[in-house]
Amino acid sequence: MALLFVARNLRATEKLAFSYTIRNMSSTQKFLIDQPKYSFLKELGLEKRNAGVYNGKWFGNGEVLQTFCPANGELIAEVQAGTVDDYDQCVVESRKAWNVWADIPAPKRGEIVRQIGVALRDKLEPLGKLVSLEMGKILPEGIGEVQEYVDVCDYAVGLSRMMEGKVIPSERPNHALLEMWNPLGTVGVISAFNFPVAVYGWNNALSLVCGNTLIWKGAPSTPLCSVATTKIIADVLEQNNLPGAICSLVSGGADVGIAMAKDVRIPLVSFTGSTKVGREVALTVQSRFGRSLLELGGNNAILVDESADVDLVVRAALFACAGTAGQRCTTTRRLVLHDKVYDAILAKLVKAYEQLLPRTGDPIEAGVMYGPLHNQMAVDQYSAAIKEAVASGGKIEFGGKVMDRPGFFVEPTIISNLKGDTPVVMTETFVPILYVLKCSSLEEAIQINNQVDQGLSSSLFTQNMGQVFKWLGPKGSDCGIVNVNIPTSGAEIGGAFGGEKHTGGGRESGSDSWKQYMRRSTCTINYGKDLPLAQGIKFE
Ligand SMILES: NC(=O)c1ccc[n+]([C@@H]2O[C@H](COP(=O)([O-])OP(=O)(O)OC[C@H]3O[C@@H](n4cnc5c(N)ncnc54)[C@H](O)[C@@H]3O)[C@@H](O)[C@H]2O)c1
Repeated sequence: MALLFVARNLRATEKLAFSYTIRNMSSTQKFLIDQPKYSFLKELGLEKRNAGVYNGKWFGNGEVLQTFCPANGELIAEVQAGTVDDYDQCVVESRKAWNVWADIPAPKRGEIVRQIGVALRDKLEPLGKLVSLEMGKILPEGIGEVQEYVDVCDYAVGLSRMMEGKVIPSERPNHALLEMWNPLGTVGVISAFNFPVAVYGWNNALSLVCGNTLIWKGAPSTPLCSVATTKIIADVLEQNNLPGAICSLVSGGADVGIAMAKDVRIPLVSFTGSTKVGREVALTVQSRFGRSLLELGGNNAILVDESADVDLVVRAALFACAGTAGQRCTTTRRLVLHDKVYDAILAKLVKAYEQLLPRTGDPIEAGVMYGPLHNQMAVDQYSAAIKEAVASGGKIEFGGKVMDRPGFFVEPTIISNLKGDTPVVMTETFVPILYVLKCSSLEEAIQINNQVDQGLSSSLFTQNMGQVFKWLGPKGSDCGIVNVNIPTSGAEIGGAFGGEKHTGGGRESGSDSWKQYMRRSTCTINYGKDLPLAQGIKFE
């Protein structure tokens, strides 16, 4: 359904003809942006055709990306993406802008981030609606995503006065041993479709206070979110007479991402997306000894022991498994139930899923709790996973079908009767399919939790304090996020966010994640007249 016009390999004359065709095609096509219901798009400065590259000025010489509403398959608007040459121009401008930005004291950079937070607050509703319209998540989550960016701005403002170094006792007389943190330069951000604003927000606010400039490549199926967000930031930079290239944008596809991964001028590539692509990016960046920050796929589990509060489990699981139609990296994909509570929880969860179905609809409408998948590819992945699960012996307890309605809707699905090591259970399929597994002890449940390649989020439901500390300890969950009596999804920004193993090991957002955006120098200063060597070495 979603068309991506590929102009990349065309000669100049063909490109001209190509863009003419697209222009003509656009003029006869209907755009949601023209309908009164979607007038909020204009409040964000969006038009039918938008330039998708920004480095102080807006332009774009690449493919025309058409962006569709997942709830009805209709065309929202278009974005003219960037080419690799456009990307190159952005790097040049961003590095020039760094010379200005890095000289501004950190708390003053924090003041700019504060203003970005204020500007986002002003646009909370229209931008949240755009997230909902273009990605397909329900409106409260779309607004919540923008709120998350606002929260990270607030956090980064405080951080801008707290990114402390160290003074370490020196073993040598008249010597000072210091640890200093400096910005890296221009940070490249490649982000996924499912958090088209917040993931950039985490990287943006932290990178900025750390003294870096940024070049962002969002997902090619959510380019309006990238353009609208960058417009908000650009206004703040321009009002402060700062170079817009501090926060550059290159809308585009894999070609731009690959160029960024290879580019020695980009000391850090922060990549959020699938494990498959993340691995390629990581290897490319590593081959030039660059740094990568990886936020990759998850295969998250809720474990439930026999003492758990059953109703709490059901409420948490409904949100974590079926919420966002299964399109969060932290979505619960495996529910590991103690056999004493297995039947009761499964029965209640099936009832809760039944109650969710009448709340299915256009995610931008009030009261809707369950929206569509992002595109046809996701619907195909859903159907393939159901087929594989059934062929492996799985029993469909709920759902299992593509819905017969416009857009990309599928039934939220519960499948039982599989083992934890069944290949389809071990795989992250980015759709609302939950595998319900049985266990008879916490040790067995933890073994199931840890046996997958991914290591993002995990939760244990229990009322037993002893179990809690086993779960949090060395023989407990091996994930980056380890919760108790809350779902696997819905993290707060104050903690470091990220996961282990094939999730990539990166940490973003709170705690000391800022250190990933800076380089550390260990500095020894001799303020005496002698030259004593460390470890008492004599060189005489
Ligand atoms: N751990 C996290 O924080 C987190 C958060 C959100 C999403 N995710 C993961 O993202 C995935 C879903 O997102 P997606 O389908 O957009 O992921 P994806 O890997 O298909 O795409 C992610 C980004 O990479 C770009 N890209 C594609 N090929 C590239 C290449 N060869 N080199 C460089 N860049 C390239 C895409 O254009 C996009 O911008 C899921 O696996 C989900 O778990 C993880």
